[in-house]
Amino acid sequence: MKKFLFVAAALITPFAAPLAYANDEALLGEARKVATTLPPRLIVALQEEITKSGPEGAIPVCKDMAPRMAGEISQQTGWKIKRVSLKARNDARAIPDAWEKAALEDFDKRAAAGEAPAKLEKGERIGNEYRFVKALPVQPLCLSCHGPAEQLSPAIKAAIGQHYPNDKATGYSEGQIRGVISVRKGL
Ligand code: HEC
Repeated sequence: MKKFLFVAAALITPFAAPLAYANDEALLGEARKVATTLPPRLIVALQEEITKSGPEGAIPVCKDMAPRMAGEISQQTGWKIKRVSLKARNDARAIPDAWEKAALEDFDKRAAAGEAPAKLEKGERIGNEYRFVKALPVQPLCLSCHGPAEQLSPAIKAAIGQHYPNDKATGYSEGQIRGVISVRKGL
């Protein structure tokens, strides 16, 4: 009997690994889909609002609409969604944990070495959870609120100073990584 079990295990094991892999691939695909839902919607809303009322009028898009949209997508998909950064603007919700921080540091190094920032992502099963992060590259649109401090308008500086006294999220240039969108789901 023991021998039979051993043989059975030996037969099953080679199949177990690809099965687990297929499962993680599915999770990666799902995580990527969830993570890429929010940024394009935000960019459209930012563009519209900046055209209508200038960058300072668009601050609520990043401040209120982004977390609200993230909450809606969470409810629809069951994935928790956050945006985090090594240089956080909102230190109440954008400070990365150790896993996110390691990914952000790795992405910065790889972008500096020439990898396309928009392609940088990482997915991993950790214990009973699947986690995924995707880099958010700085585009020209972002610079009116995240660019070098001396290039920000006085109105933006005042609004940011008022809402975010500990702001670290200026001084970026196009193509740098502003942060990541971070999604996770219990398995
Ligand atoms: C109109 C001003 C404005 C523009 C334009 C803007 N942001 Fe922001 N951004 C903010 C504000 C304000 C916050 C803080 C949001 C909060 O309170 O959670 C923020 C927060 C973030 C965060 C969350 C992490 C943190 O530091 O709090 C990320 C990531 C981010 N922005 C990326 C971008 C990217 C990428 C672009 C361009 C596509 C962009 N932002 C354009 C104002 C702006």
